[in-house]
Amino acid sequence: MAHQVQGVVAASRGAPVQLTTITVPDPGPGEALVRVQACGVCHTDLHYREGAINDDFPFLLGHEAAGVIESVGPDVDNVAPGDFVIIAWRAPCGNCRSCVRGRPWYCFASRNAAQPMTLADGAPLSPALGIGAFTELTLVAAGQAVKVPSDASAAAAGLIGCGIMAGLGAAVNTGGVGRGDSVAVFGCGGVGDAAIAGSQLAGAHTIIAIDIDDRKLEWAREFGATHTVNARNTDPVEAVRNLTGGNGANVTIEAVGNPVTFEQAFYARDHAGTVVLVGVPSPDMKIELPMIEIFGRGGAVKSSWYGDCLPTRDFPMFIELYLQGRLDLDRFVSETISIGDVEDAFHKMERGEVLRSVVVF
Ligand SMILES: NC(=O)c1ccc[n+]([C@@H]2O[C@H](COP(=O)([O-])OP(=O)(O)OC[C@H]3O[C@@H](n4cnc5c(N)ncnc54)[C@H](O)[C@@H]3O)[C@@H](O)[C@H]2O)c1
Ligand SMILES: [Zn+2]
Ligand SMILES: [Zn+2]
Repeated sequence: MAHQVQGVVAASRGAPVQLTTITVPDPGPGEALVRVQACGVCHTDLHYREGAINDDFPFLLGHEAAGVIESVGPDVDNVAPGDFVIIAWRAPCGNCRSCVRGRPWYCFASRNAAQPMTLADGAPLSPALGIGAFTELTLVAAGQAVKVPSDASAAAAGLIGCGIMAGLGAAVNTGGVGRGDSVAVFGCGGVGDAAIAGSQLAGAHTIIAIDIDDRKLEWAREFGATHTVNARNTDPVEAVRNLTGGNGANVTIEAVGNPVTFEQAFYARDHAGTVVLVGVPSPDMKIELPMIEIFGRGGAVKSSWYGDCLPTRDFPMFIELYLQGRLDLDRFVSETISIGDVEDAFHKMERGEVLRSVVVF
């Protein structure tokens, strides 16, 4: 039996999103139906609405979600009805060329539901990041549903499903931040602040937050930044060098998605340091760097997709840290909203008023 529920749909490039009736099929083999309890509004949803990801409209938006398994199809053994889960946009296949090299976080055949969710007229929806969770019920591959302790708040837990995991993982997994390291984070939205929180968890000694908005810098301090720099009135590369004995940081993290901040992050790192790009550039962006600087500085220039996370390993661990009071996920939840308020939430995000607006059901 298919289910008729309300979902947030981006129908065409740049058009405001609409709350509309969608049809969600019952789970088939290897699929799970999730009753969504909370779903964060991420910048990537806005990128979809603007047509900046691809042109496969109509999109069913929402991809930072937690909820409870409603039902599962045949051949599902990782989750059962009633389980509290975070939905992941990476569900490694185990068989592709990256999985067999032992690097499932680069899986090239990540699993999604086989059946489409549709509009009332039968037109198939493209679910954002293979999820589509601004709706009461969503259909995913069972491997995308990661069971976590059920005493976590759904609004906080869902954020681990995208932006917060991306930031935490950029620091801990991709950047390899460790005890005593110095770190500089460029851009202090949800992703950058999560990179700051991850650096603090990993034992970094100096954590420098860089943004162009003083309010964001105040929040960054609450997540563990030891120093802040407003790049509107201070040269951030000079500032990072001054705060690190004239050397630069061991790890720099770009969490804006902008060539100017990437170049700053490149030059703000110490010799043999690591620069991590987690911000998503648009296809037209270019950078020009003297090749001798890439060679002469050594170290590593890395990009971080979803924080190089392995959801089944990392999601339960970060939820445990949250429940132990060592990772303040609640602080990322600026406001809870209803499903009809997603368009408004995009505008608040653009004005820099929130870290995360979270739809709760
Ligand atoms: N790699 C991944 O897997 C992944 C996952 C999720 C999101 N992202 C990307 O991460 C980026 C950040 O996401 P977010 O949700 O935190 O966005 P956001 O809009 O909340 O935060 C961006 C921050 O950058 C700051 N900023 C803008 N221009 C700046 C500049 N010139 N110098 C310093 N700071 C500047 C803004 O003031 C803001 O605080 C986006 O590009 C998003 O698409 C990547
Ligand atoms: Zn794979
Ligand atoms: Zn996201």
